[in-house]
Amino acid sequence: PQYWPGLIETYRQYLPVTAETPVVTLNEGNTPLIPVPSVAAEIGKQVEVFVKYDGLNPTGSFKDRGMTMAVSKAKEAGAKAVICASTGNTSAAAAAYASRGGLKPFVIIPDGYVAMGKLAQALVYGADVIAIEGNFDKALEIVRQMADAYPITLVNSLNPYRIEGQKTAAFEVVDALGDAPDWLCIPVGNAGNITAYWRGFCEYHQEQRCSRRPRMMGFQAAGAAPLVHGHRVEDPQTLATAIRIGNPANKALAIAAQQESGGEFNPVTDDEILAAYRMLAKQEGVFCEPASAASVAGLMKHKDQVPSGATVVCVLTGNGLKDPDIALQQNTDQFHQGIAPDLEMIANIMDL
Ligand code: F0G
Repeated sequence: PQYWPGLIETYRQYLPVTAETPVVTLNEGNTPLIPVPSVAAEIGKQVEVFVKYDGLNPTGSFKDRGMTMAVSKAKEAGAKAVICASTGNTSAAAAAYASRGGLKPFVIIPDGYVAMGKLAQALVYGADVIAIEGNFDKALEIVRQMADAYPITLVNSLNPYRIEGQKTAAFEVVDALGDAPDWLCIPVGNAGNITAYWRGFCEYHQEQRCSRRPRMMGFQAAGAAPLVHGHRVEDPQTLATAIRIGNPANKALAIAAQQESGGEFNPVTDDEILAAYRMLAKQEGVFCEPASAASVAGLMKHKDQVPSGATVVCVLTGNGLKDPDIALQQNTDQFHQGIAPDLEMIANIMDL
């Protein structure tokens, strides 16, 4: 077709699908790689920095890449329902793709720790949402048991098709740049996406679509950084609720990606995350959610390690509109409420 047909059709030869697989797609993928010169200027050394803005996927996050695969394969296998645990984005994507494919979505979330936009999406797309007293790690434990005990397909990133779909983001980065970057900076929560990117770069490298593979630089919120500390975190805390995870399901594969690529896991504080979040929006016009800004925060924190002339890609995993509460809280000084409709008064506020 002349239009972008979605990532399964585009990358079919690299994906475990057959002519019989019923493709459930919202034409996801093909997200832009956007230069961010103000971030590059902070680093200097003729470094080039791009963001892979995966918040422009159909439900506003990279999860759509995994969900088109997971739901297509679930449908192929005859499943009637899917279930996931989620900090929000997985639930939105699962709900949208399951409903589109004629499957029933169920999601289990940590009560009080899912951003409002994501919760709204899951409900609007038709999921039954069960909010539990407990964090994401507990919710994941429960859905794993449920998928074992009941006829329902698990669509968390433990589902191998999720990783397969998500690896296409690395293909797109290489297709756009003409080669792999030197560094790939990425937020890490349940550790599926870093695993997927690494697999994508390795497969493209093997096919000689790129001449090298990047260093995988994973960043975790300082209060939820099990891969930095090397052990699980019992009570993970961060305002970046998307990555508020203490016991990542894909930790073994993520550690392999870090080690094979000569990469690192490092923490970024909530303040550093918010500084990058503000900078991306106010200097580059790119609005991502807080968890996504961890990649840029991490790059800036480790700028001394970036080699001169390097090409760096930071993954922006989710759209800023997902979390309107934080967006509003962070910018109260710009919001002038209850003002009389008076020209002089308004001009005064505008400092004219
Ligand atoms: N960024 C965003 C916006 C996310 O929603 C997530 C994970 C990550 C980064 C981390 O990716 O888990 O593959 O390491 N969100 C999951 C969810 C946990 O339920 O939506 P990861």
